[in-house]
Amino acid sequence: MAKERWPVLVTRRLPQPAMKRIAERCDITLHEGEAAMPRDRLLTEVKGKLGAVTLLTDKVDDEFLDAAGAQLVIAANYAVGFDNIDVEACTRRGVMCSNTPEVLTETTADTAFALIMAAARRIAEGDRFLRGGKGWVWGPMMMLGQDVHHKTIGIVGFGRIGQALARRAKGFGMNVIYHDVYRPPLEIEQEVGAEFRELDDLLAEADFVSIHVNLTPETRHLMNAERLRKMKPTAVLVNTSRGPVIDEAALAEALREGVIFGAGLDVFEKEPEVNPELLKLDNVVVLPHLGSATVDTRIAMGLLAADNLIAGLEGRRPPTILNPEVWEAKQRGKA
Ligand code: DGY
Repeated sequence: MAKERWPVLVTRRLPQPAMKRIAERCDITLHEGEAAMPRDRLLTEVKGKLGAVTLLTDKVDDEFLDAAGAQLVIAANYAVGFDNIDVEACTRRGVMCSNTPEVLTETTADTAFALIMAAARRIAEGDRFLRGGKGWVWGPMMMLGQDVHHKTIGIVGFGRIGQALARRAKGFGMNVIYHDVYRPPLEIEQEVGAEFRELDDLLAEADFVSIHVNLTPETRHLMNAERLRKMKPTAVLVNTSRGPVIDEAALAEALREGVIFGAGLDVFEKEPEVNPELLKLDNVVVLPHLGSATVDTRIAMGLLAADNLIAGLEGRRPPTILNPEVWEAKQRGKA
């Protein structure tokens, strides 16, 4: 007997292996194109679907859930960050939601380390300089940066990606300090040789500050003008988490005034817009949210999102569900 097929919405084309896995069991409504699915289309197309694969550019909130209808079983996010999902609203309505942790940890930590190196050693600025075609000659004082090796890195948010960054830093002989509202087990501190600091102490001590927190009301503008002033004038700030964790206007001013040496940003407060004040500055390296952007990692994220979707639709527990209480309640309902 043919297996049941489910109507689902996929809000942007995912890598082919993920599309294939979803298509094996689902009838897909797909939004093609590079741009995010326009909100009105999203709300129209989600109607009547049993599942949705959403991106960080799609808000899954009460409006979305109303538009979908009560039959919606799962919203499977194609990202580890899930600030675009109102998990509480999903739970209230008995809709499961999931994210894609683990599979992008190492790749995102690589990006953070690349930004540390690029900002400290003025890599993007040097590249721009040469492309500008001005005459130059090697000079003792030309484009001096900051050493990375054997310096102190302060990791704010010591979850999976923060810890992966700490392991990279150790390889560069760096001293690792961290701040998190949750203290990890002692073995983790010991494995990477990291020491806890209060946030303000970390900011004063670190030569490199790398942000790895989730975006929540508590972490919005965590790095504001006052906190930036606590950093060393030779320090570099890197963000591969979510843009609104940094007050971008305050950061642009700090970079312009030499309050800190440089910054490396993969994410922006009003993404995809980048604060024009930042773009005027040479001491900031900017990337268009490429943290997890490798072929292998994007396939792995797609396959995990597909597995979450199909597990939810088959009545199995989605492997990386964000609201397990919904699945558990469904099991109790079946008993
Ligand atoms: C995420 O997964 O949250 C990243 O920002 C995109 O990979």
